[in-house]
Amino acid sequence: MINVAIDGPSGAGKSSICTEAAKRLGFVHVDTGALYRTIAYSAIIHSINTDDEISLKNLLNMTKVEILFENDTQTVLLNGENINDKIRSEEVSLKASDVSKIPIVREFLLDLQRELARNGNVLMDGRDIGTVVLPNADVKIFLTASPEKRAERRYLQLLAKGEKIEYNNVLDKIIKRDYQDSHREIAPLKPSDDSIIVDTSELTFEDSVKKIIEIIEEKV
Ligand code: DC
Repeated sequence: MINVAIDGPSGAGKSSICTEAAKRLGFVHVDTGALYRTIAYSAIIHSINTDDEISLKNLLNMTKVEILFENDTQTVLLNGENINDKIRSEEVSLKASDVSKIPIVREFLLDLQRELARNGNVLMDGRDIGTVVLPNADVKIFLTASPEKRAERRYLQLLAKGEKIEYNNVLDKIIKRDYQDSHREIAPLKPSDDSIIVDTSELTFEDSVKKIIEIIEEKV
């Protein structure tokens, strides 16, 4: 099985770039952020504070997370319910960053991620795929872009959705999440020593996809 690990900060375009690259390569794209978002969503609907480890542990004991792939689309099931369209809000994004600092949460999701990599050719995106989840991945890429560029892209996406939002507000949130994701004690966001850094600040979507495919084809 070919395993490709793609890590990077939020808003670098990992998800959309990986979806397209995986489609062209005939690989499965595993978006691991969706798993942390699922736990965050579950914590929100059960009113669980992420600092309360005992309640969080109880929550995990009654939580079943499954992941399905159909027509290049990943679906996450929380206790059997498809929650794909409930995990993309700003509230869930921030809470996902909070829950991802908790060791029991990371441990809870580890086996599922490794299992997926054992079963097929995967392009797995996240924050710690090359460093922790798949340290022996065949290819490791760190996909990034400047905070300003990521904020600009996110801002335009939100505007297109009709949301009233300030650019500076989006930039602040990106900087806050970057800081939190890269300064946590466990599995912080960072490129592994053997990863190839791809900066998409000045690349179009198509060029970013081509670059990723080129790196993968060269290596495997
Ligand atoms: O990629 P994303 O924005 O959907 O991820 C949501 C949060 O989950 C992100 O702030 C950090 C966390 N995360 C993580 O800690 N490890 C991963 N492999 C993927 C996501």
